[in-house]
Amino acid sequence: MKTTFSIIKADVGGWPGHALVHPDLKEIARTKLTDAKRNNLILDFNIAHCGDDLELIMTHTNGVDAKEIHSLAWDTFCEATERARDLGLYGAGQDLLCDAFSGNIKGMGPGIAEMEFTERKAEPIVAFLMDKTEPGAFNFPIFKMFADPFNTAGLIIDPSCHDGFIFEVWDIHEHKNVMLKSPEEMYDLLAIIGAKSRFVIKRVFPKPSSKLPKDEPVSAISTEKLYQIAGEYVGKDDPVGIVRAQSGLPALGEVLEAFSLGHLVSGWMRGSHNGPLMPVGLKDAQCTRFDGPPRVVALGFQLKNGHITEPVDLFDDPAFDLTRRKAQDIMDYLRRHGPFEPHRLPMEDMEYTTLPKVMKKLGTRFKKIK
Ligand code: 13P
Ligand code: 13P
Ligand code: MG
Ligand code: MG
Repeated sequence: MKTTFSIIKADVGGWPGHALVHPDLKEIARTKLTDAKRNNLILDFNIAHCGDDLELIMTHTNGVDAKEIHSLAWDTFCEATERARDLGLYGAGQDLLCDAFSGNIKGMGPGIAEMEFTERKAEPIVAFLMDKTEPGAFNFPIFKMFADPFNTAGLIIDPSCHDGFIFEVWDIHEHKNVMLKSPEEMYDLLAIIGAKSRFVIKRVFPKPSSKLPKDEPVSAISTEKLYQIAGEYVGKDDPVGIVRAQSGLPALGEVLEAFSLGHLVSGWMRGSHNGPLMPVGLKDAQCTRFDGPPRVVALGFQLKNGHITEPVDLFDDPAFDLTRRKAQDIMDYLRRHGPFEPHRLPMEDMEYTTLPKVMKKLGTRFKKIK
């Protein structure tokens, strides 16, 4: 049996500001997906949040890009938006860019990470949920998990991982993708994914030598870029990702280890600042200081016949205290830079800016330097 694991997410109103999802919105989503489960549209689900992003984690057998699943998510976000408007939540409906659903939720605002695969005997799977950052924030940890032997011991010592993996990378400016093999093409891979605002890892596949089916991804990341979709700032692209673990893949602990640096990502405060990505448990998945710092939650499930266990809140663990402490120090240091790069993003990456207005105002006061 093939199962589809889908995470579809949207910010449909912040409580307060851009800090958190209001419990009423999660309750609406829970009711809606309970109905869908009862009607056999989905097999199972979990509702979660990271910061102000409402996350629908669903399992079903409809495959990726299934109209009925996307439509369910869209309707859920619309209902939650109505409640957000009633409550006067901030930016109600922020990520719903169109008035009517057109059959596929892609390009309409919400973020989507989905993959369809044949379940193994035991299928550990992790939903990663991020807030105040962008899809490229996944490049570093996904590379670490599936390509860096200093992170993933299995690449060296597990015969079923030893041949490495294949990365599908998207150029989100040119709308093109490329498949790159690791370790053979690791330097080419790093050359492009280091430029994380343009090149993003979309999926990871097993090598042909693997026992796993070659065409079934082992990881998938949402890559929607809201400001490109809408042509202007309408909310950010806080991403989500799915990673399968163990038995021919990185162990769960290797998957989580990839987040132990608190690496620098873009998208903090007004989508226009760099900051460390702090791994947190759900209870700490609210964005406060300077609307951040950027956060990531990891919910771990065992999947069986399309049904998921209760999630384990994997970063809610003292083992990540040191990473969080380090992230706090880095945050404090970066904050002292105020409006200066590299805390503030370079001009071309900022999500909104007054610069054109400032330039216009200064206009003729700029004189040619002789
Ligand atoms: P178990 O022996 O508990 O399955 O663990 C395998 C492992 O080494 C995970 O890192
Ligand atoms: P969200 O994209 O999470 O709504 O955050 C907007 C922002 O930039 C807050 O500073
Ligand atoms: Mg918001
Ligand atoms: Mg958000």
